[in-house]
Amino acid sequence: MPDAARTPLVAANWKMHKTVAESDDFLDRFVGAIGDLTGAEIVVCPPYTALPSAVERTRRSPIRIAAQNVHFEDSGAFTGEISIPMLVELGVGGAIVGHSERRRLFCETDEALARKLPALLDAGLEAILCVGETEAERDAGRTEEVLRRQIEADLATVAGERLGAVVVAYEPIWAIGTGRTATREQAQEAIAFIRALLADRDPAAAAAARIVYGGSVKPANAAELFAEPDIDGGLVGGASLDPDDFVAICAAAAP
Ligand code: 13P
Repeated sequence: MPDAARTPLVAANWKMHKTVAESDDFLDRFVGAIGDLTGAEIVVCPPYTALPSAVERTRRSPIRIAAQNVHFEDSGAFTGEISIPMLVELGVGGAIVGHSERRRLFCETDEALARKLPALLDAGLEAILCVGETEAERDAGRTEEVLRRQIEADLATVAGERLGAVVVAYEPIWAIGTGRTATREQAQEAIAFIRALLADRDPAAAAAARIVYGGSVKPANAAELFAEPDIDGGLVGGASLDPDDFVAICAAAAP
């Protein structure tokens, strides 16, 4: 089991799924089913359009709402982007940044992440930073090199003592949406490596930071993954779209 000082965290990344009506329907069912589950923090990341309604619907629940991306500038000529003050105005509690889909399909760079992360923390928002290797990189034995490069570059601008406030999601790209989950040993090994990288900067922050696993997490494999000593929960895509499955995964993080 992970260190009891770290509260497990389970986040739903809905990606480009669910209209406002579908999001409302999910949350009405999910909020009721999850009740007052303690022992794990739950974050739901709907598309931007569903954020206001999602904040409203979870107001009297322990569930927090976060965005799937954010821009680092407060305002400006950035067509199609959403800023941190815009999220704060809605009562949104944080944002995912650096998801592999945004890095690969939408050219999100380490330089942009190094600006987004301190901006989120300065605004008091939760930052969920995704990192992970491709299948070719793993096969070439380069997993640690890739993780080191991402962690060092993306967190370069975050002071050591603030690293504990960042949630890191280890998401091996070959496990995302493929049904091919990393084994518990693979996930534990990579996450322990990430924690060691954080400890090089600040040992106390590394011990406090939540580092979660993402990539084909399902009700059937959540409990064994979350039982590993360094895996502090999960970032869940496909299985988070179904309220019953997501309840089961959240419960697995708070046994
Ligand atoms: P899946 O759970 O669908 O594999 O997606 C993982 C993910 O990308 C979460 O951010």
